[in-house]
Amino acid sequence: VEMSDRETAMELPPHILIFPVPLQGHVNSMLNLAELLCLSGLHVTILLSDYTHNRLLRHATLRSRFSRHSGFRVATISDGLPPDHPRVGERIVDMALSLKQIGGSQFRRLMESTDGLSEGGAMRRVSCLIMDGVLSFAISVVEEMGIPYIYFRTISACAFWPYFCIQEIMDAGEVPLRGKNEDKLTYWKKKEMDMMVTSVPGMERFLRRRDIPRFFGVANADDPTFKTMKTDTKKTVEACGLILNTFEDLEGPILDEIRKHIPNLYSIGPLHALLKAQLESKGMESSHNHSSSFWEEDRSCIAWLDSQPTCSVIYVSFGSITILTRDELLEFWYGLVNSGHRFLWVIRPDSIVGNNSENWNEIPVELEEGTKSRGCMVGWVPQQEVLAHPAIGAFFTHSGWNSTLESIAIGLPMICWAYFADQTTNSRFVSKVWKIGLDMKDTCDRIIVEKMVKDVMDVRRDEFLERAHSMAVLSGKAISEGGSSYLNLNRLVEFLKSTVS
Ligand code: UDX
Repeated sequence: VEMSDRETAMELPPHILIFPVPLQGHVNSMLNLAELLCLSGLHVTILLSDYTHNRLLRHATLRSRFSRHSGFRVATISDGLPPDHPRVGERIVDMALSLKQIGGSQFRRLMESTDGLSEGGAMRRVSCLIMDGVLSFAISVVEEMGIPYIYFRTISACAFWPYFCIQEIMDAGEVPLRGKNEDKLTYWKKKEMDMMVTSVPGMERFLRRRDIPRFFGVANADDPTFKTMKTDTKKTVEACGLILNTFEDLEGPILDEIRKHIPNLYSIGPLHALLKAQLESKGMESSHNHSSSFWEEDRSCIAWLDSQPTCSVIYVSFGSITILTRDELLEFWYGLVNSGHRFLWVIRPDSIVGNNSENWNEIPVELEEGTKSRGCMVGWVPQQEVLAHPAIGAFFTHSGWNSTLESIAIGLPMICWAYFADQTTNSRFVSKVWKIGLDMKDTCDRIIVEKMVKDVMDVRRDEFLERAHSMAVLSGKAISEGGSSYLNLNRLVEFLKSTVS
C-alpha cells in the first residue's frame, strides 16, 4: 500500500531554514547552529548568497563537514553585487542595502516555488525560519505563509541590549553625534565621549558614550544603516523568540534585562564549543578540522607555532571585515616589535587601504629584524586551532563576538582594538566587566600597543589569566550536560519540533 504524501511527510523531521547575513562572522555561528540542529535529528537548509557559497566551496570544507548529516542543504540567492565588489570595511553597507532591495523578491520566489525547498519530497516544507535579525525583508513572506520565525542575533547580549534601547539613548541625548566634517581623531578625543550612558538599564556603571555599538564611528540619526539597525532590533519582540550566542554565567544580568521584553530567549553559546562537545559525545570528528573560512587558511603558522615556547606568542587578528590604513598598520607593527614579544599576525589580503597604490612589500628597515626573528605574518589562519595552541599567550583582537567567545572558551587574556558596530561594547565588557583584558578603545598608538602587549604577556599576566581561566571553566559548564546552554538548546529543539503538528 502506497503511503499518502501527508503520511510520508509525517515521518520526516521538521525542516528549519537558517538565513544568516552573508558575512564570515554571521555564517560561522549560524553554520554551527545548523550542524547542532542536524545532530538533533532536524532537517536544515541554510540560505547563503551565491558569492558566499562560492567562497565556502573554494576555501572551506563545507561538503565534507555536512556530508555526515543527511538532512542538510544549501540554498542561494544573489546579493546583487558583482563578485569583485569589496565586501569589507564600510563597503559591507553596499551589500546590506543591495540585499535589502532585491532580497525580498528572491526570498519570496524561493519560498513560494512549488518545491518550497522540500527537495522533491525528501524534506518537508520549511516549518520554521531562523534568521539574522537585520534581514527583516523576509518576515512579511513567512508571515503570509503562516511560518513562524525566530531571530538569531550573532552579537553579544551586551551589544544587543543598547541596540535595542537606541531610541531611549537618543531621547536622552546620549548618542554622541559626529559632525559632518569632523575627523575620527577629533571626535574620539571629545570629552563627552567619556560620559556614562544612563538610559540603558543594567549598564549604568560601565557603558560610556564611546562604548555604544557604533556604525563606522557615526551615530547619525539619518544614516540608513543606523536607522535599519534601530527599527529591526526593536522588531525582535514580534518574533517567536531570540537566540543569542552567549551563556548565562557570562551575561546573566543583561540577559535578564532583555527577557523583560523578549521572554523567550535562548542563550546557547559558545556555539563552537557546544558543537565540538556534542560531536565528540557522538564519537564524531570535531569541527576543528571543518572550517567555514572564506579565505584560504595558511597552515604554515601552525608549524611556526610548534617551534615557539609555551605562552610566548601574542596572536593578532582583526577578523573578517576590519580594514586598516597604512598609518594604523605601522602603529600596530611598531608596538608589536618594540614590545619584544613574539607575534603571529593575520593580515588579510584585502585589509589594507590603498593596498595597490603603494609598495607594501617594503618593510621599514627598523622593523625588519624584530619581525624576522619574532614575528610570523599570514593572510588567514585556522583561528580556533591557533587559539588552542600552547604557544599562544594572549589574543590581540578587534572584539568581534565570535573571536571574543573563542578566546573566552579557551581562557586567553585579550587586548581589544574595536573597529565598529558591536565590537565597541564587547571590548568594554572584556576590560571593565569581565576584567580579562585591556581595551585600546579609540586610540591607535605604538606606545600604547607596546605597553598593553607587555601588560597582558608579562606585567599583569597572572591577574588576567586567573580570571580568564575561571570564565573558561564557566563556559565549559554551560555547554556540558545539564548546563544552561545545553538545556536551552534542548528547549529550542523542542520548540522547533513543535512547529510541525
Ligand atoms: C562581525 C562582528 O563584529 C561580530 O561580532 C558579529 O557577530 C559578526 O560580524 P567579524 O568582524 O568577522 O564579525 O569578527 P568575528 O565575529 O570575530 O568573526 C571572525 C571569525 O573568523 C571567527 O570565527 C574566527 O575564528 C574566524 N577567523 C578569523 C579565522 O578562522 N581565521 C582568521 O585568520 C581570522
